[in-house]
Amino acid sequence: MTNNPHTSLGAAMDGGRARYFHGRDEVWDKFQSILKSAWRARGGTVFLVQGPPGAGKTAILHEFADRAAQTGLWDHRRIEIASLHDSRDLADALGDQSYSDRTSFLTETATTKGADYIANYRREMRRSEGKERSGPTPKMLLRWYVAGMKKGLLLTLDEVQNLSAHKASLDRRTAIMDVLDIIRNATAGGPVVLLAGGLGNSMSVLGDFGMSRLFSDCLHNIGVLDVAAERNVIRDWIVKGGEIGSKVRTHILNRWIDTIAAETDGWPQHIHCFAPEAAQWLRRRGSLMPDTVPEVVMERGRAGKHAYYAQRISSLEEHHLCALATLIASRPLGAAMFTQMALHRVFRAATKKHDLDKEMMSPVQAIQVAIRKGVLAAIAPRRLSVPIPSMHNWLVDTYGNVEDLNHGRVRSGRDEYRGR
Ligand SMILES: Nc1ncnc2c1ncn2[C@@H]1O[C@H](COP(=O)(O)OP(=O)(O)OP(=O)(O)O)[C@@H](O)[C@H]1O
Ligand SMILES: [Mg+2]
Repeated sequence: MTNNPHTSLGAAMDGGRARYFHGRDEVWDKFQSILKSAWRARGGTVFLVQGPPGAGKTAILHEFADRAAQTGLWDHRRIEIASLHDSRDLADALGDQSYSDRTSFLTETATTKGADYIANYRREMRRSEGKERSGPTPKMLLRWYVAGMKKGLLLTLDEVQNLSAHKASLDRRTAIMDVLDIIRNATAGGPVVLLAGGLGNSMSVLGDFGMSRLFSDCLHNIGVLDVAAERNVIRDWIVKGGEIGSKVRTHILNRWIDTIAAETDGWPQHIHCFAPEAAQWLRRRGSLMPDTVPEVVMERGRAGKHAYYAQRISSLEEHHLCALATLIASRPLGAAMFTQMALHRVFRAATKKHDLDKEMMSPVQAIQVAIRKGVLAAIAPRRLSVPIPSMHNWLVDTYGNVEDLNHGRVRSGRDEYRGR
């Protein structure tokens, strides 16, 4: 086996369904009871799971959709943002064969759905004359689709924060708001639940689309996995993924789990950097586990973790990163939290100091980019944090050896950070 850290990047960048899903019981309990009441009341709602990159939002969407489908009461369809404003896209996502174009739609529905239906349709079309679509609106399509369903409809929509890109287009925004509105207010004509996932700013993005708040229990901010769940995920990767089966020796297995968990901080994405590497190593050996995790596995895990950090910060300018690292270093260990004003101040000082001539991102832009990339998260009005725990150390280690922005003297962020 080559000792090439980049071979691990596939695993590090891989999103989607978790092979061994554990934890998130509290969120599932809430979601399950939302499903039950939506089914009973033939209503629906929007359920949002938000959190930083790699926290496990996409995994939750997959897992919960599978569990809901297993009840036999819910049909799951995965939609994209385009499905909310583009009827053809929504029809594709729903697998709705009846959608083709306005004309054929009218001909078909005239025979099956009756005059009121067509009158309604024509009214809607007149209202939307001149708009970008040529068929029924997504809202109409969703209602018709739901009317024909025997089961409830569970929609999943990931990366919901990207809705912000559609804020400026009135047509799109109206179409999106219409769809969200009938789901949230349970007027789709049947049980429809939208399970949405997105970065920490998702709720505020939804606010721009008429959803100022969600019903209680429908908004969840996720972070690290609890210790038991983290260990279970690592254990499954080793035992099942590594196919060690009956060859497992408990004390050695526990040592492997301890070693990996010491690097992962409960962060699902980090677990995914290390555990599949361990599994792959074991599968290839097909023999007894060594007493300790091979260093090559740990190296690859660390490389994956660092590649992930690098990807998150790639759009930020270096002086912003240095300023952020210095600010983190000035906080007590593990508490990378600050007011927006404090961050703005150090970003502004860094911008002035480092490059007066070049056109650069403004402090406000830099903060926005950092939030969009999940380097920062809003934890309360005008308060920010670095939500990925192990990223604190990494930022300080990588960018912390900088000039003190306040006093103009050089000091090591790492030393200060460690000293506290
Ligand atoms: N509860 C869990 N149990 C086991 N594995 C998980 C769990 N949650 C997430 N994972 C795994 O951790 C990795 C990161 O999770 P995921 O891709 O869902 O994060 P995300 O929050 O959607 O990140 P991003 O914002 O970058 O899309 C994935 O490989 C996923 O399979
Ligand atoms: Mg995701």
